[in-house]
Amino acid sequence: MNILFIGDIVGDRAVTELCSWLPGFRAERHVGLVVANAENCAPTGLGMAEAQVRELLAAGVDVITGGNHSWDSEESVKLLELPQVLRPLNIGAHISGRGLLRLDTPAGEVTVVNLADHSAMRSVKAIEDTFRPAYGAWRDADPRGLVLVDYHGDHVLEKQIFARAVDGVATAVLGTHSHEATIPLHVLPGGTGFVTEVGMTGPADGVQGFSYDILVKGLRETGDPFSGGIPGPSGGPVVLGAVLLETDGKRTVRVERITW
Ligand SMILES: [Fe+2]
Ligand SMILES: [Fe+2]
Repeated sequence: MNILFIGDIVGDRAVTELCSWLPGFRAERHVGLVVANAENCAPTGLGMAEAQVRELLAAGVDVITGGNHSWDSEESVKLLELPQVLRPLNIGAHISGRGLLRLDTPAGEVTVVNLADHSAMRSVKAIEDTFRPAYGAWRDADPRGLVLVDYHGDHVLEKQIFARAVDGVATAVLGTHSHEATIPLHVLPGGTGFVTEVGMTGPADGVQGFSYDILVKGLRETGDPFSGGIPGPSGGPVVLGAVLLETDGKRTVRVERITW
């Protein structure tokens, strides 16, 4: 099966451009499953918005994953009730939403697991106290079939050690959150596809897809880049950050970067 994994989608323009491209690509490359991290898909880039989530699902995204920004707004938190929308698994079980989704596909059972590292999640004050290490949550989750992991984190070494630890069990571990794509496309010895950071789908001329003027001004004038507020998505051309996995049974046999 061919599986498309799309990194952090930033802003509504990125959603629109992605959705105009996705159905054609899906047909052309015989893509059987599409997973997208959409924690920044709201027009503000902060959290999810209903219109953009509906647009993504209608265009052929099968599963939406999240991260620290999943809690940015009431609207975003409400969207965690949708069965196709995940947030990181490794937080308190009493927090709304799910971190794991099982799907039946023509290629058999698929489990999508959303994990996060502490560095990414410590900005979410409402849930930081409930954070648990990703590997412990993974072990308790009993993922079955073809298993895809969105590992939402800053910590490169942690992502890489995790990928090695689940080699041969997970079909792929795809890193998200830092928005800047890493180059190597690994297939580990046990058949786990691994990319440290898939990279964002959003405006390429900003900082992590966001305008930076007020951040630079804040840094220069006060030492705190956020003293002037949080900017929205930048206005430049949108780039795609995605990888296409070719799988054979539970194993990944090839990873290809897809971009425009
Ligand atoms: Fe993000
Ligand atoms: Fe994030």
